[in-house]
Amino acid sequence: MGNIRHRRFLFIVKTSASGKIILFGEHAVVYNRPALAVPVNQVQVDVEILDSDSAGVWIHAPIINLHAELSSLPSDHPIGSVILQVFSMLQQSPSLSGRGARGEGGIQINISSTIPVASGLGSGAAVSVALIRALSSFFFLPLTDHQINQMVFESEKLHHGTPSGIDNTVITFNKPVYFIKDKPIETFTVGKPFTIVIADTGISAPTKESVGDVRKLWQKDKNKFESIFDEIGQISLIARRAIESGKPELLGELMNQNHELLQQLTVSSTELDKLVLAARNAGALGAKLSGGGRGGNMIALVNQAEASQVAESLIKSGAKNTIITEIK
Ligand code: PMV
Repeated sequence: MGNIRHRRFLFIVKTSASGKIILFGEHAVVYNRPALAVPVNQVQVDVEILDSDSAGVWIHAPIINLHAELSSLPSDHPIGSVILQVFSMLQQSPSLSGRGARGEGGIQINISSTIPVASGLGSGAAVSVALIRALSSFFFLPLTDHQINQMVFESEKLHHGTPSGIDNTVITFNKPVYFIKDKPIETFTVGKPFTIVIADTGISAPTKESVGDVRKLWQKDKNKFESIFDEIGQISLIARRAIESGKPELLGELMNQNHELLQQLTVSSTELDKLVLAARNAGALGAKLSGGGRGGNMIALVNQAEASQVAESLIKSGAKNTIITEIK
């Protein structure tokens, strides 16, 4: 007779979460002004959880070269801490107690991703969303999107200082969001689809640092920076109306204005400015940096027919990668 463990039913769960891009309002959103963000479905994180014959919780995430058992990770590890957060909920739920280790073996968690790390496309939040969804199905622990969003926000706080919560929100709900910190979530509809080109400087820039630097500037001159945040907030509001009412062509000029205000916040860089100019010169209707700045990505609004030409010109001007995406 063979070993029964080799013949047991293999339980497997697969989930995924898309990337995201901020269209308007980054940085000002940390100071309670509105920002707009949309999912980017061309890039995504995939998580697979399956029963394993080896005891323990084995995590394989080749993209960050992680192959480890959960207990060997520090308690504040970005992936480990998310798993522990779900496990602590499982233990609190009497109906689920004892399901943690299926039979005598353990579980294996495989994480793969096409979202570049630390470039403003939400890779960290997407890993957390896909991971929590996978664990929630694997252990029959039903969680609402609101609960998942809150859990991912807790993990973002652990690793990014004072995040506004925009990343976890747009990625959890996978819809365009008009986001104001500490306010109920507002998703919105796109009146007429439009195309943006996203270009990566290839420079990985920690959001925590640019957010911290803006805070120092704000502390020194609150009047000046509050008024910049107000202007950015106004742009987000006007942009939302333009998108909802099917007039996306108005977004180009709004992007240009937003970029100038981000330059005043000191979060642009030579490379980002170069790409923004290259996009405009290649026919984009407007362009700006996106996300924390200093590196990471920029975005350009384009007529669909000109998208490839703008993307090519961005590569010639030093972009390491481009994504053409339709917002709908
Ligand atoms: O770099 P990203 O795309 O994760 O965006 C950061 C956006 C900020 O407004 C700069 C910070 C935040 O938490 O909202």
